[in-house]
Amino acid sequence: MARLFNRNFIVGVTGSIAAYKAAELTRSLIREGANVRVIMTEAACEFITPLTLQALSGHEVHTDLLDTEAEAAMGHIELARWADALLITPASADSIARLVQGRADDLLGACALATPAPVFVAPAMNQEMWAKQATQDNVQTLVSRGIAILGPSSGSQACGDVGAGRLLEPDDIVSAVIAHLCTGTLSGRHVVITAGPTREPICPVRYISNRSSGKMGYALAEACINAGAKTTLISGPVSCEPPSGVTVINVETTQEMFDASMATAATADIFIGAAAVVDFKPTTVSDRKIKRSGVEAMDLSLVPNPDIIASVAESKARPELVVGFAAETHHVQDYARKKLASKSLDFIFANDVSDHSIGFNSEHNAGVLIGRDSDIVLPMSSKRVLAESIIEELSKVLD
Ligand code: C5P
Repeated sequence: MARLFNRNFIVGVTGSIAAYKAAELTRSLIREGANVRVIMTEAACEFITPLTLQALSGHEVHTDLLDTEAEAAMGHIELARWADALLITPASADSIARLVQGRADDLLGACALATPAPVFVAPAMNQEMWAKQATQDNVQTLVSRGIAILGPSSGSQACGDVGAGRLLEPDDIVSAVIAHLCTGTLSGRHVVITAGPTREPICPVRYISNRSSGKMGYALAEACINAGAKTTLISGPVSCEPPSGVTVINVETTQEMFDASMATAATADIFIGAAAVVDFKPTTVSDRKIKRSGVEAMDLSLVPNPDIIASVAESKARPELVVGFAAETHHVQDYARKKLASKSLDFIFANDVSDHSIGFNSEHNAGVLIGRDSDIVLPMSSKRVLAESIIEELSKVLD
């Protein structure tokens, strides 16, 4: 399971004999779906080569604060902002002391100061060094600043001593990081959301579409990311900014949205159809612009598009929850209930788009989340707040 899907990690490697374990750690993080960039201190490079960690992380290793070329590619502030977590593994006694002092005379220290992300420190050192009051005081200072200390474990050490100071095993470090970071109600779950309108071309310049802005679908994606879900957004053409961490698949036609939905829904726990899908497409698409001159009347012949959400709901690898949206102007709840049954959905969110203060293009929405045996009224609020309420309700059912 990719429990760290799309999360950005800086792995900071310092000078310790346990530096070689950073290689296994990098692999474990990537296996969990994380994006990893490695920073090595000068001393770390004496124990393991940057090339090894470059090959495993898939990115050039950052070693130098004052390297103009590296700074031009991704400067230390940019790197610090990119990170969702900084994981210093192994952390030597010296690197812990430097963190306490807030030293910024090397790249790792500067990033630790500049990042707003949570910092994890996995110490590794000789048992005598670990036991010394100076180190213990430093560790307590880091804990008081909200830094998570992972380990160390006890056992025989590379220097021949026996005691506390061994680096935790990489898989144990990753598990501890997951336990710290993945606390959301949808942690470890995959949600696929369709959003926005689709477009059906008539000729190279004209198309059939609708007024959907995509705001509701994008707000749902953000709520899913905040709840810790791996989130895939299949989006028609919209001008919304996708929330960070979401995998976006851009599509234009209903057929493209259908193909992307069927491919991704197979691994989803929840599928939400928030898109306003164009139900019919022209029987033929002209490969030239259709000219107006001399045309008195025009008939457009249309054929139906596939029903995406109904196909997902009937597929063999059906997600646990399939949730639709019903934007209606009349008999809103009645139509919604019929769609819930005819499309084999678990929930449908019914909203009245004849009310211009909500629905299409508006920042607000309100409606009723209709289940097979429950109705939850969600009063008017911003689409963001409403999305959070919908995701909260769905998480309860999954639990
Ligand atoms: O268009 P209609 O009101 O039937 O849409 C209800 C639900 O079905 C929505 O969730 C919409 O995203 C979905 N739908 C779909 N494929 C279609 C038409 C609608 O997935 N061709």
